[in-house]
Amino acid sequence: MSSTATLDVTVLPDAEAVAERAAATILERARSKAGRVAICLSGGSTPRLLYEKLAAEPYRRALPWPRMHWFWGDERFVPADDERSNQRMVRHALLDRIDAPADTIHPIRTEANGPEESATLYEEELKRFYAADRFDPARALFDVTLLGLGEDGHTASLFPGSAALEIRLRWAVPVPHAAVEPYVPRITLTLPALASSRVVLFLVTGANKHEILTRVLAGDDLPAARVHTDGHLQWLVDRAAAPERL
Ligand code: 6PG
Repeated sequence: MSSTATLDVTVLPDAEAVAERAAATILERARSKAGRVAICLSGGSTPRLLYEKLAAEPYRRALPWPRMHWFWGDERFVPADDERSNQRMVRHALLDRIDAPADTIHPIRTEANGPEESATLYEEELKRFYAADRFDPARALFDVTLLGLGEDGHTASLFPGSAALEIRLRWAVPVPHAAVEPYVPRITLTLPALASSRVVLFLVTGANKHEILTRVLAGDDLPAARVHTDGHLQWLVDRAAAPERL
């Protein structure tokens, strides 16, 4: 069990403030280095506000788009133009709006023959980008990783009790059965891949997340509580989702 005393939890007034803080963190990380900036995006509905914010001023002008690289923490195995696709959501809210260079977009490819092949192709893509096939704790794969929290405690597509939680050697794996809607197979990064991040930001908003967030922050053994990083892990939560004592 861990306690919030050891966790970095920032309680903000509302979802808008959470998105603003996340956008500011991404800009700060981008400005703090000269080369490529790798951002790992989450799906679901919570981060949409953040993505729209990045595509609008002042972030639109301030972000160094040609060196910003976009990855996904998980994907639903549906066509890229399906409304359940995480890639589609990010393209609509952000990438299409800023006309992101094609070589900076690294989607989880669902035109593959199945989730297994999709995970393998994605892992290969990540290894090419990282230019190594093993993680070096001194050199993170991602500069910023965004994650959400499901009402059952899942994050990315790491569901409670899932075999994917135990994977140590692979970076991306197929998840044949999703525990929540949409009930389509998924592809997810593994815990070691998520750990190779300079900053991990969990974005959690809304009263429907209050109960599960309280449990995760109290250290219950849920997938989101298992995420760790060699860098810094921060929870950005709104008042409605935050445990009473914070
Ligand atoms: C997905 C996700 C998932 C999501 C949580 C929270 O593809 O569904 O990446 O892990 O972040 O389910 O989703 P909401 O933001 O919609 O509540």
